[in-house]
Amino acid sequence: MKEIKAIDYSIWIGENSLSKLDISTYSKVAILVDENTKRDCLYKLPKIENPLIIEIKSGEEYKNISTCNFIWEQLTINNFDRNSLLINLGGGVIGDMGGFCAVTYKRGLEFIHIPTTLLAMVDASVGGKLGIDFKGFKNQIGLFHNPKAVLISTEFLDTLDESELKSGFAEVIKHALILDNPLWIKLKNTTFTDLDWEDIINHSVQIKNKIILEDPFEKGERKKLNFGHTFGHAIESYYLEKGTPISHGEAIFMGMILETGISDLSENEKNEIKDYIISNFALPYTPKKTYLHKFLINDKKNQDGKINFTLLSEIGNCSFDNLFSLDEL
Ligand SMILES: NC(=O)c1ccc[n+]([C@@H]2O[C@H](COP(=O)([O-])OP(=O)(O)OC[C@H]3O[C@@H](n4cnc5c(N)ncnc54)[C@H](O)[C@@H]3O)[C@@H](O)[C@H]2O)c1
Repeated sequence: MKEIKAIDYSIWIGENSLSKLDISTYSKVAILVDENTKRDCLYKLPKIENPLIIEIKSGEEYKNISTCNFIWEQLTINNFDRNSLLINLGGGVIGDMGGFCAVTYKRGLEFIHIPTTLLAMVDASVGGKLGIDFKGFKNQIGLFHNPKAVLISTEFLDTLDESELKSGFAEVIKHALILDNPLWIKLKNTTFTDLDWEDIINHSVQIKNKIILEDPFEKGERKKLNFGHTFGHAIESYYLEKGTPISHGEAIFMGMILETGISDLSENEKNEIKDYIISNFALPYTPKKTYLHKFLINDKKNQDGKINFTLLSEIGNCSFDNLFSLDEL
């Protein structure tokens, strides 16, 4: 088991990480699950006496204020006081929304993330961003607040769909491309089924954590994590509007290919990245750039009417705040 020190909490990674679940100081414990994590993950937790199980429906469409009402109601009718604990057992939806509900309930319950998807393990559970969607806008309402601990155990990946695994893997690839050339070489030379997940997750969390320690509130360094996400979000929105949604990971893979294309890399490096992604992951077709314009001009990161990209300066290094007009793309 490995311990990674985050700002004011620890991230434990490894098969025994769940043994770090310490509930001894809390008056009551609630566990937030959806129907899938209730079925596949709950029984893997160490024994807890009489926890309150709060079950919500799975899916991004339930990451909203109505589900928060339900969670706050459950805590209230079960007399949870401020000395209680909420355990978020699930993917990024459970983590983001559970954390948000915990911090706002009675001005703050402590919470622990136990991420059960690869995406939540390598990305969503690290960095303190919490929130919900509102009026069609993703993560429109939320705040930064750190958990008491993050416990990452790869045993949860056994029941995860391959599409969900690949979705999280897009963020692993991103971490390697922006900051870790040796990890990129390792990933490139290992087939997907032979990957050592614990090692990969450990590397990936270290990279994200290092950035967050330098810049917790996304004033500078943290923007590096946006590589692939400007085009990626536009592609995700394009498919959503068409009524044929694609996974976040597929969109980010396509976004990384397009943003590699406008990065200052050699043609060899550009082809290396593109060929790796295309040959390992079946992706939907990439929409014409002009179809993406209307989404790009509404990107949250834009400055002075220009589109803001994080781009690779070499494989394993990147720069942020690269501004392009639509005509230049
Ligand atoms: N806070 C952050 O920094 C951050 C970063 C990236 C993404 N996010 C958020 O994360 C969310 C996406 O997270 P996600 O991809 O984990 O999706 P998710 O939470 O919707 O989980 C995906 C699906 O997998 C199921 N599932 C979860 N664990 C399982 C397991 N072990 N076995 C079987 N099924 C399981 C879930 O029930 C769900 O159906 C988005 O809302 C996104 O905004 C947050």
